[in-house]
Amino acid sequence: MKKIALCALMLAHLNTNAASRPPVLGKSAMVVTAQHLASDIGNNILQEGGNAIDAAVAVGYALSVVHPCCGNIGGGGFMLIRFANGKTTFINFREKAPLAFDQKHFNQGLHNTYPYLEVATPGTVMGLNTALKKYGKLPRARVMQPAIELAEKGYTLSQQGAEYLSLVDESLKNQANTCKTFTKNNKILRAGDTVIQQDLSRTLSQIAKGGSDAFYHGSIAKQLVKASKANRGLLTLDDFRQYTAQELAPVECDYRGYHIITAPPPSAGGITLCEILHITEHYPLSQFGFHSSKSTHYTVEAMRHAFADRNQFLGDPDFVDNPTEKLISKAHSKRIQQRIHPDRATDSHTLGFIGNTKEKPNTTGYVVVDQKGNAVSVTYTLNGFFGAQRIAGNTGFFLNNEMDDFNLQPGVANDFGLVQGDANRGAPGKRPLSSMAPTIITQNGKLFMVLSTPGGSTIPTQLANVIHNVIDYGMNIQEAIDAPRIHMQWLPDVIFFEPRAFSADTQRILNNMGHHFRPGAPWGAPLWGAVTAIQIDSKTNQLSGAMDSRRPAGSATGH
Ligand code: DON
Repeated sequence: MKKIALCALMLAHLNTNAASRPPVLGKSAMVVTAQHLASDIGNNILQEGGNAIDAAVAVGYALSVVHPCCGNIGGGGFMLIRFANGKTTFINFREKAPLAFDQKHFNQGLHNTYPYLEVATPGTVMGLNTALKKYGKLPRARVMQPAIELAEKGYTLSQQGAEYLSLVDESLKNQANTCKTFTKNNKILRAGDTVIQQDLSRTLSQIAKGGSDAFYHGSIAKQLVKASKANRGLLTLDDFRQYTAQELAPVECDYRGYHIITAPPPSAGGITLCEILHITEHYPLSQFGFHSSKSTHYTVEAMRHAFADRNQFLGDPDFVDNPTEKLISKAHSKRIQQRIHPDRATDSHTLGFIGNTKEKPNTTGYVVVDQKGNAVSVTYTLNGFFGAQRIAGNTGFFLNNEMDDFNLQPGVANDFGLVQGDANRGAPGKRPLSSMAPTIITQNGKLFMVLSTPGGSTIPTQLANVIHNVIDYGMNIQEAIDAPRIHMQWLPDVIFFEPRAFSADTQRILNNMGHHFRPGAPWGAPLWGAVTAIQIDSKTNQLSGAMDSRRPAGSATGH
């Protein structure tokens, strides 16, 4: 009898993790990316003695080949590094608006007709090469070689990879250079087909040999400018000659004894994440329970207030003064807490400045921890799925449509429904405000978690969901990622939610408090993101890697 009770108890314990597959365990190193071939490449680099930065650069180039919707060399992003000695740095390789930027094109809405108008100067090659040169150990040719080989010899398209291509099927079929690579017998490639990208392989080889100069000062820039000019775009050779990546200090904040290291402007993601965490810290979420009416009320209120600040105040720090210190101060969160009613939803229209919320109906993140304890989190993007869905000439890579992240038409929501202020108006050479937030968390000075996700405006809320799930609701890292998510971004004044996020009773209670609901992902299912994360056990130093179950093409690979 006693034995049965003990077994039941053990089972009950095991069942606490039953909602998800277990995380992938690693003794010394781990790589998690949204495409399993890229995760394997990163892991091989680590096994050969490369460090986390070498692996991150190899993965960055590999994803441009095997995850072309989102992985890129035609876009930009951010790399957050925490070295084993505790030092941190943040590499900003966000795209810049063309020097010929002119607001009038956007006032006239011409960017909706001419996709090249939304292309900003790409930063990825400069960002990855800067990181490698300064902090990597291996030569560029070595870390780029797996990407070059995959582009030249091809790889087998996964089910999910095929689904991504089918989402932009018309656009890929209608252009000679994309048609050549992504179709067979005039049909878009399907799962099981081999994707061969000769043009991309040549471009990557040029970068491997010539470094960033090959991209920014050579024939690649020339081809990009030529295609841009032919299609009413604004890029000139000066945009490429003058492009710079920069190192910045990350934004840092604290949540219930954990230290959060995350993205500074020109991303709003880190500040928004810190604000959400600081506001929710005033409430005993764990006592309220996962997605109870109380915990949801306060979490959603925190998101609402954080986004009202984000959309109003933040922009490229090279052009505007950001009130970062104020927004991430505990005093600011206290003031907001005092305004949050315990039983009533705040009407978003009473907060901040107000625009017209007319809505219009992409990115990838990955994380690496190496044998020495160096940690890297990268989020980089083309903005939309396959960016502008344009490849210049025979360069072989997709170009971003990052200009959409600016507040291009005041009062009008961008592709992520964000209504933004003057701080994020477009200007020549300015970087559009981002939501991307590669994040690293420590506890008592030790590495605790490394996180990254795509998802546009949902990036900081996805990260907050995962962090709450681990710290407040006691989930393991895989469960925390897989649990249904909620999102609110001030405007529109609705709670977006995934299926099974709430019971009908909970939703009713929240409705009665004045909350509004909209089921589903905000801007189409692909944008709910693909969280990648690594958690480190403080006692054993064991690594748990978790890839979002919503993205089966990805993997956590460790050793
Ligand atoms: O930088 C940003 O915030 C957006 N361009 C990111 C876009 C994105 O995450 C789309 N992904 N699924």
